[in-house]
Amino acid sequence: MIDKVKMLCEQYQEPRDTFKDNFSETPISFGRKKQRERIYSICDYATKNNPGDIIQIGCKDGELTKLFCEIAQKYDRTVTCIDPFITVNRTEKTSENYFKFLMNTAPYSDIVHLHMEETSSELSDALMQLVEYSFVYISGLNKYDVHANEIDLCSVKNHNSGIICLDNIRKDGKKKDKSMLDLYQDKLNQYSFGYYWNQGQREGYLLP
Ligand SMILES: C[S@@+](CC[C@H](N)C(=O)[O-])C[C@H]1O[C@@H](n2cnc3c(N)ncnc32)[C@H](O)[C@@H]1O
Repeated sequence: MIDKVKMLCEQYQEPRDTFKDNFSETPISFGRKKQRERIYSICDYATKNNPGDIIQIGCKDGELTKLFCEIAQKYDRTVTCIDPFITVNRTEKTSENYFKFLMNTAPYSDIVHLHMEETSSELSDALMQLVEYSFVYISGLNKYDVHANEIDLCSVKNHNSGIICLDNIRKDGKKKDKSMLDLYQDKLNQYSFGYYWNQGQREGYLLP
């Protein structure tokens, strides 16, 4: 599976000049170009080859959700979205994001379930454990403990199948550069996951 994911990611690679050999000098905006194409192709591959639904943690304006819905519809699955629609950044308007999310997902209202709470709430925890996933996309509150909990809960049902995509691997409050990569390493050890990431992409993949 790692070879297949690597091949799909390499089809949509960031141009070499947008990132540096030294990771700490790489601009924070790295890996955005063609990211949607990468995520789409890996989600499609995961959903085609594994049982279960798609979960998205952190949905913002629903642009990515729309793509997940397309895939879910193709394979007769559903998309579970968890997002409290809180302001994470002063330039973003929460109500605008929520409105855009509703507009983007309106054509798929029969297969989208939106749970409007943080992932650390009791009900979100229960929901994450209940859903069997083919693909999990994680991009909510970028903190080690929060993402560790999300990975643990989404792995309850099936850590032997499905793919987990962890976005924004450089952001983690004060400890910027390494902590999301540490998280990968810790979860690889804990669950014997496979793993694919390269310096040209801002998201990484945990594989069964
Ligand atoms: C940066 S945006 C994610 C955008 C996504 N990468 C995309 O391309 O569509 C972060 C989102 O996570 C949500 N969020 C923040 N904290 C969260 C939490 N604890 N649980 C779930 N979602 C959260 C915010 O409301 C916001 O919509």
